[in-house]
Amino acid sequence: MGNVLTDEKIPNNVNLSGDKRLQRALEAWQPAFIDWWKQMGPLGWQERDIYLRTAVSVETDGWAHFDHVKMPDYRWGIFLEPKQEGRTHGFGDLYGQPVWDEVPGEFRNLMKRLIVTQGDTEPASVEQQRDLGATAPSLYDLRNLFQVNVEEGRHLWAMVYLLHTYFGRDGREEAEELLARRSGDADKPRILGAFNEPTSHWLSFFMFTMFTDRDGKYQLSALAESGFDPLARTCRFMLTEEAHHMFVGESGIQRVVKRSCELMKQDPNGDPRTLGGIDLPTVQKYANLWYSLSLDLFGGEVSSNAADAFAAGIKGRYKEDRYDEHKLVGSHFAMDVLEAGKVVHKDIPMRNALNEVLRTEYIKDCQRGVDRWNKTIKDEGVDFEIKLPSPKFHRQIGMWSTVQFTPDGQMIDAETFAKRRGEWLPTAEDETFIKSLMHPVYERGKFASWIAPPGKGINGLPGDFEYVRL
Ligand SMILES: [Fe+2]
Ligand SMILES: [Fe+2]
Repeated sequence: MGNVLTDEKIPNNVNLSGDKRLQRALEAWQPAFIDWWKQMGPLGWQERDIYLRTAVSVETDGWAHFDHVKMPDYRWGIFLEPKQEGRTHGFGDLYGQPVWDEVPGEFRNLMKRLIVTQGDTEPASVEQQRDLGATAPSLYDLRNLFQVNVEEGRHLWAMVYLLHTYFGRDGREEAEELLARRSGDADKPRILGAFNEPTSHWLSFFMFTMFTDRDGKYQLSALAESGFDPLARTCRFMLTEEAHHMFVGESGIQRVVKRSCELMKQDPNGDPRTLGGIDLPTVQKYANLWYSLSLDLFGGEVSSNAADAFAAGIKGRYKEDRYDEHKLVGSHFAMDVLEAGKVVHKDIPMRNALNEVLRTEYIKDCQRGVDRWNKTIKDEGVDFEIKLPSPKFHRQIGMWSTVQFTPDGQMIDAETFAKRRGEWLPTAEDETFIKSLMHPVYERGKFASWIAPPGKGINGLPGDFEYVRL
C-alpha cells in the first residue's frame, strides 16, 4: 500500500491503474488542472527551477523528496495514509462500528459539501498568493511560497480524488467547478470569505499561513477522525504537509518582529519605519485582521450542522482519542453566547457546540505561536506584547457578527467601532506603507530590510543556497 507508482501519469498509492474508469477520468481532469495552474498559479515563475519538496510515498522517508523542479512539472499525486484493518467509528451514533469504505446514501450530500468546501480553499489560496513572487524578501522565502502553493495544489488533487471516486457524476462536476471559481471574483467567488480576501503583500501572506492555514490544520484534523475511511486517510496525509505552511507563517512573523526590534534599537526615536522596518503596532493590526477572519472559518458558535456531522460519524473533534466519551449525548459545553443583546455564559448541548470546541483548540494553538513571537521580542529587550484579540472582535460569521467588540472583548456600538477601527485593523495608509516596503530581494543569501534571516535553511542547506534559479 505504501508503494507509489511514480512512472504513472498521476503518482499515487491508491492503485489507480487497477480502476481504468477512474484513471481515465482523473487523467482527463489533469490537463484542466495544469491549465488552471498556469493561468492562476504563481505569476512569472513557471519556467524557473525551484528547490521543492515532493511527496513520493507516504513512508516517513518518502514524502519529502527535495530537488529543483519547474512548477508545471511538479509531480502532483494522490496519497492516502495506509489503511488500518479493523478500524471502527471513533465517535458519534455509530461509535465502535466498522468504518465505511463507501459513502452511505443518507450522508452523501453532507459529505460532498464538506469535501467541496475543504477542496475549494486549496486552489483559492494559490490564487490569493499568485502575485507575491514579484516582491519576495529573499530566495528562501520565494521558495517557501512556491512550496506552499504546490502543496495546496496537491491538496486539491486529494479532494478531487475523493469526488471522482465516491460521488459519481456530481463529483466530477464539482471537480470542474473547483477549477472554475476564482478568489475574489464578483460572479464566481470562492466559497468561504477569508479565501476571497486579497493576500496582497508578504505581511498578509505570513499572517495567512500562520492563522488561516492553521484553521486548515484543525478542519483536516476533525475530518481525519472521519468514519468515511478514505476521507480520514487523505486528511491524515495532508496534515503532514500543512505543518510546513504554518511553520512558514509563524517563523515569518517571528523574523519580522525580530527585525522590527533590531531597527527600533537603531533608530534614535525607536521607530523601525524610518529604517525600512514594520513597527510592532502595525504587526498587531494585521494579526487582528487575519486571526478574526480565520476564526470565522469554524462556522457558527451553536450549530446543528456540526451536531449532524458528528452524530453521523463524519466530522469528529481534534484528536478524538484524547477524550473518554465519544457519543456526547447529554453532555454540555460552557461558553459565551449572545442573548437579548447581552453576553451570557451558559451550557450548550455538546454536539451543537462542536464548532466552538474546535475553535477553542485552535485558539490555544494560535496562542502558543504568539507566545513564541513575544519571547523573541523579550529576548531583544523590547517592551511590547502581541495579543490575540477577543474571539468576539471583528467577526463576520456567527453570533458575534451582529454586534461589535473591542479587541479586549468589550461590547461597543457600531459607531464607536467605526470611529476606532483604524486603531485595531489595518487602514488604507497601513496597506500603502507595507506595500511600499515590498521590493524583491533575489540576491543569494540577502534579505529585505523588514525581515531577519531565518535561523536555518531548508533541508539542512545554508541560507544562501540557490533555492530558486534565476
Ligand atoms: Fe491545504
Ligand atoms: Fe496549507
